[in-house]
Amino acid sequence: MPDRQRIHRARKAPLRGLFVFCLILVAAAADATGRPASDAIATAHPLATEAGRLILEAGGNAFDAAVAISASLAVVEPYGSGLGGGGFWLLHRARDGRQVMIDGRERAPLAARADMYLDAQGDVIPRASIDGPLAAGIPGTPAALAHIARHYGRLPLEVSLSPAIGLAREGFPIDAVYRRMAGFRLEALRRFPAAREQFLVDGEIPPLGQVLRQPALAATLTAIAESGAAAFYHGEIGARLVAAVRASGGIWSAEDLQAYRVVERAPIVVHYRNHRVVSASLPSSGGVLLAQMLNMLSARPLDELSAVDRTHLLVEVMRRAYADRATYLGDSDYVPVPLAGLLSPAYAHRRAKTIDMARAMPSVAPSEEADEGRDTTHFSVLDREGNRVAATLSINYPFGACFVAAGTGVLLNDEMDDFSAKPGAANAYGLRGNQANAIAPGKRMLSSMSPTFVESEQRVAILGTPGGSRIISMVLLGLLDAIEGRPVEDWVARGRFHHQHLPDRIQIEPGALGTEAIGDLERRGHQIRQLDDTYGNMQAILWDRRSGEVTTASDPRGIGSSALMPNSSVPAMRQSAGRIRLRAGRRLP
Ligand code: DON
Repeated sequence: MPDRQRIHRARKAPLRGLFVFCLILVAAAADATGRPASDAIATAHPLATEAGRLILEAGGNAFDAAVAISASLAVVEPYGSGLGGGGFWLLHRARDGRQVMIDGRERAPLAARADMYLDAQGDVIPRASIDGPLAAGIPGTPAALAHIARHYGRLPLEVSLSPAIGLAREGFPIDAVYRRMAGFRLEALRRFPAAREQFLVDGEIPPLGQVLRQPALAATLTAIAESGAAAFYHGEIGARLVAAVRASGGIWSAEDLQAYRVVERAPIVVHYRNHRVVSASLPSSGGVLLAQMLNMLSARPLDELSAVDRTHLLVEVMRRAYADRATYLGDSDYVPVPLAGLLSPAYAHRRAKTIDMARAMPSVAPSEEADEGRDTTHFSVLDREGNRVAATLSINYPFGACFVAAGTGVLLNDEMDDFSAKPGAANAYGLRGNQANAIAPGKRMLSSMSPTFVESEQRVAILGTPGGSRIISMVLLGLLDAIEGRPVEDWVARGRFHHQHLPDRIQIEPGALGTEAIGDLERRGHQIRQLDDTYGNMQAILWDRRSGEVTTASDPRGIGSSALMPNSSVPAMRQSAGRIRLRAGRRLP
């Protein structure tokens, strides 16, 4: 049964009162251990962290801060996420313990067809689902931001979007990451005039430190601030989006935009070593795979293993879970997914029994290397009341489809590539799929984005990262660090390795495993691919519930920053909020 229906049913169930009462008891039990001593934010860009801080100081809660951060990232990390994309916002509301995933994932346009990226011979047309407006799903981020502000926030969109409007209007200095991403997508950015104008200078990558202003994006954000998501999905902006897409070979219609809806879904919950792990549900594969892997690890404990045995076991667990991703997972509103079976500990235990500690299990199928996209974004927020947000947002490839709809400032995603264009064919991240993730009108494409909470009596962790198919294995390694009591800096900085069933090799970050360990793994039959570059950009928060202490960390691989605002300084900060002038020239209330 799709999660949406399940939630709907839960609301109607006669036991609802009892259920709510139990939730309140759970929340009360959590509060008895105290509240966080600080607000905390960790994002992939210092200006987005600052936007979140301003909104908290202005009296907003974690959900208002999440709206401000999401919108600001859309401006200052245009290569990673944006109004033309989508994402998953995992929320925990302290007041009643409500945990929900806001699914703002893109949908396939209504005119989409299963074979839309295949040529007359039935072969996948290279880059058809990556560059240009035919690659774009219907965006979910504007609807999700309005939804979060309305149902969970305290401040109007006019306030929470004001930092982003300021950043778009007044500009921000070009950084090294922007330059690297723009370099990676230079050819496609040059091809589409409105994108070229917005993101390049005379067709070249802007120099370091140059201020990039996006007035059309500022106008679109202002329209959303004043009139809500309807300003994007209806009216003038919607009409411009559709006209621009269709003029360049895309298939969006006004009906597509008008029909877009955010879905509130129950997150995936799994218990592992006295911790409760809460993560993204379908159409993300993240929570399902994390649950499968943790269930397998419950059957085959990591304790007391040598470092190399531990790596071998984790790789074998990853291999099995990713194999199921390719076979079974897709948008459960459209296709039947055997979720109960996949999540059952009994199934995991059976699969764990097939792991041979001395030998790698070959993944039988042809393998292709994947491109290495480096984009998408994750942020984590905790406020002093205990409200939390873990959000992973995307436009897929760096700079998405590299297509801006003229007059809107909105850069479109190329998330259609996350569908399986043809059974068994690999996408940009080397992921395969079959009918479960085939394209269908209105369907959401399978994702790997895995915003996650880890909870126990002692601690609460909030984490996530970009990184395409590697997101899920990174979050697994990070949450194991959290559960094993390591400090938050270690989760984000640790060396990473990854296996996704196909291609059948362990991908290893430079320096993550020593020569001896690699030799040992090779002797067990593993194929190794030592990567030239690092991957991921994790943003994490740890709240020690016993002491109240909060710590945060931003991945040293990126330029992100985290902020802690101790409660004791809150009154002073709140007083000064009235004097904070945002770049837009607007004052916060
Ligand atoms: O939803 C997904 O799984 C992908 N669109 C995420 C892409 C991503 O993380 C790119 N980073 N390398």
